[in-house]
Amino acid sequence: MTNCTAAIELLSVGELIGLPTETVYGLAADATNADAVAKIFALKKRPQFNPLIAHVGSMDMAAAQADFSGKAQQLAEVFWPGPFTMVLPKSASNTICDLARAGLETQALRFPAHPVAQEVIAAFGKPIAAPSANISGYVSPTSAQHVRDEFGANLPLVLDGGSARIGLESTVVAVLNDEVTLLRPGSVSKDDIEAVVGKIGTSLHDDNAPKSPGMLSRHYSPEARLRLNITSPEADEAYIGFGPVAATTTLSLSETGDLTEAASNLYAMIRELDLTYDAIAVAPIPEVGIGAAINDRLRRAAL
Ligand code: TXA
Ligand code: MG
Repeated sequence: MTNCTAAIELLSVGELIGLPTETVYGLAADATNADAVAKIFALKKRPQFNPLIAHVGSMDMAAAQADFSGKAQQLAEVFWPGPFTMVLPKSASNTICDLARAGLETQALRFPAHPVAQEVIAAFGKPIAAPSANISGYVSPTSAQHVRDEFGANLPLVLDGGSARIGLESTVVAVLNDEVTLLRPGSVSKDDIEAVVGKIGTSLHDDNAPKSPGMLSRHYSPEARLRLNITSPEADEAYIGFGPVAATTTLSLSETGDLTEAASNLYAMIRELDLTYDAIAVAPIPEVGIGAAINDRLRRAAL
């Protein structure tokens, strides 16, 4: 039996699996099965007011679950499959359980590009709910080993799709009344989106009225104390550098100063240093392109 077959059998009986995507690994369940989705919230210790993304394997599967306005259609054509999630009005034919939406009338959908994710969703034939496969609030996993470290024997199967190519969670936008609002920055940048649909709004986190509850301020956090924009670390701190390695550098996100490489290394390096250090200092990261998403995650991790 291939791993994919085993994955489908587990999903079919309402069990969870670890699923690779190009952004981060997901903790996956049948999105239409409320009992299965409840296991995601329990295993992650995730508050039930925080809705999940449903992953689809085709435009047809997406269109059955949510209403696509003109702009939503355009964005899907450009950014799907890929690291891009849209929050849309749920359709009349939606079959995803209310719990996955945390009772909202809107549905978050993503069509991932990772071949293993695509194979599993196509074979399963239904949307798959999957938040990042970490205990709520901790650093997202970018390898199968990270997921095993997180859940151990409580997760029957983790499909290994290699190191996540992007390494940061997907960009999340809401497309409601044909207006586009950025809810979570990611590797698809605001400029990339505006090149397709013109000016968009931004509504990043507000703890009192979270539009995207996963944007609650503290998130993505290691146990270690994290300090940002540091050029001279303290003696007892691990130092995550960016650019050429200095005498103080413990690990460099990218020795050549490549932001894409830095994003793909960020979570693995934080996880590794969190095992042995009580304090981590991080070099300044340019607020350009995916650098904006890296800084967004670092700010939340440091709270
Ligand atoms: O890259 C990713 O997006 C990964 C992979 C596994 O797909 N998933 C991920 O899921 O990061 P999660 O649950 O960690 O983050 C999903 C975000 C949360 O901030 C959640 O609040 C938001 O999407 N979200 C989901 N449904 C929503 C809705 N109906 N309205 C507003 N925000 C929503
Ligand atoms: Mg998450």
